Amino acid sequence: MPVRELISAAEIERAVTDLGKRVSLDYADQPLTVLGVLSGSIMLVADLMRRVTVPHKLGLVQASSYRGTATSPGELSLHLEGLPDLTDRDILLVDDILDTGRTLAALMESLRQRQPRSIRSAVLLWKKERSQVDLTPDYHCFDIPDEFVVGYGLDYNDEYRHLPFIGVLEN
Ligand code: IMP
Ligand code: MG
Repeated sequence: MPVRELISAAEIERAVTDLGKRVSLDYADQPLTVLGVLSGSIMLVADLMRRVTVPHKLGLVQASSYRGTATSPGELSLHLEGLPDLTDRDILLVDDILDTGRTLAALMESLRQRQPRSIRSAVLLWKKERSQVDLTPDYHCFDIPDEFVVGYGLDYNDEYRHLPFIGVLEN
């Protein structure tokens, strides 16, 4: 399927550099753990970590909502096993996109049980008008319209993740 570019690789790079600066300032001298949500956040996490100048640890969680296309998210499954100890850590939960918000809301709820010092969220993209939960990301790079996007980690049926830009899938 053709992909129409929405956000270029250069724009992403500028935004992630800026995000890295903000995170570095906000977490100076704090026990930061970056928690990436698999699989969509891999590119953002890898790029962001290289731009965060304060020491930090990395953890990865898996979340999937079994969706094929844009519209209806299915049942959510979370895999939190294998995480490092998060007690008294400042968690920055990093995901590719905040769509309905159900994934991040559920993750934050589960992570609170691990007694972290704080939890904040960072996403590359925010589809504000789709929100189903009362959750504002603490950091986000771009607001996007309600269109199904792929690239820079985001997939459609596990394809298109490799694209270095964000694009809209056109039928
Ligand atoms: P939420 O729980 O509805 O906020 O959905 C979050 C997850 O759904 C993201 O981590 C993505 O994996 C996936 N998702 C939501 N919107 C899109 C999209 O436009 N393209 C690709 N994946 C999406
Ligand atoms: Mg995802």
